[in-house]
Amino acid sequence: METVIGSYKDIEFAAQLLQAGEVVAFPTETVYGLGGSAYSEVAIKKIFTAKGRPQDNPLIVHIANIRDLEQVAIDIPKIAYLLLDKFAPGPLTLVLKKHSNIPYQVTAGGESVAVRIPAHEMALELIRQANIPICAPSANTSSRVSPTLASHVYEDLQGKIPLILDGGSCDIGVESTVLDLTRAQPAILRPGAVTASMLAPFLNVSMAAPPDETAKSPGTKYRHYASLAKVELASTPKEALEKLKAWDKDKAIILGSKDFIDSCKKGISLGATSAEIGRNLFATLRKVEKQFDYIIIERFPETEENIALLNRITKAIN
Ligand code: TXA
Ligand code: MG
Repeated sequence: METVIGSYKDIEFAAQLLQAGEVVAFPTETVYGLGGSAYSEVAIKKIFTAKGRPQDNPLIVHIANIRDLEQVAIDIPKIAYLLLDKFAPGPLTLVLKKHSNIPYQVTAGGESVAVRIPAHEMALELIRQANIPICAPSANTSSRVSPTLASHVYEDLQGKIPLILDGGSCDIGVESTVLDLTRAQPAILRPGAVTASMLAPFLNVSMAAPPDETAKSPGTKYRHYASLAKVELASTPKEALEKLKAWDKDKAIILGSKDFIDSCKKGISLGATSAEIGRNLFATLRKVEKQFDYIIIERFPETEENIALLNRITKAIN
């Protein structure tokens, strides 16, 4: 199958493909998603096949409007609306009780469904025109880093999907926060740009699912983001340079914050702020793992705004 890269003018065509049970990759503010109708078992199957995704890892359903929530979830608690009023459209995914409209293939057989409203005009317009909830995992081959450019999607899925809508580079670059509201004690199953302290005025959340509860967030048990290169962390520029010395200089690279790289006097700066580093991390990993066998990444301080970054980097370590 030929994979076409489209633009805003192709949204109508993309929506028609979705309505016909086809899959389409599209940009969101976090990462690119591989979308299909949440009502179509055929489309859902195509998503799993194109990505090579394990069947027991459920998908996030994307909607364009808060009022569409009732088409995908039931017994929606008031707090869900309060959170969406504040954070939607945006990088917050809520896990709620599944509506019978949503096939079990989307939820990996479970009674809960993950839902979010993406903050990207191309995504919203696509969902509005398709006029159906769209389930979309990140548009990478399973276990590769998530795509933040249309070219990353092409690299992974070319020949396997008909269309990639190109909306430029993703603003956030790290996948959404997944918040489970079906538990007695709401829990962040995956950290993202919406942090526990941003949620604190609304509800008390535990920071992450305890390890023995990973069954509740199936995605967390897979080794995500496995890099082709060996990845290690270094706490200081001195440690990074020492690690680097052991390798042929053309085969190893240091990645870190601007200050870290400035003081190493070599390597690639991912940015000066946590937000910039998040935006650049996956794209830089994709680029350097093709050239280098060994990647040394700064061990970023464990501040709240770095939690999502640290989570993704830890998963990149082989
Ligand atoms: O930012 C994002 O969330 C991106 C964009 C495309 O929206 N999507 C994304 O999807 O990251 P994916 O499939 O790569 O990750 C979805 C995560 C997985 O860890 C999955 O296990 C979890 O959400 N998840 C989905 N449905 C769930 C459910 N019903 N209960 C618990 N966790 C769920
Ligand atoms: Mg993913």
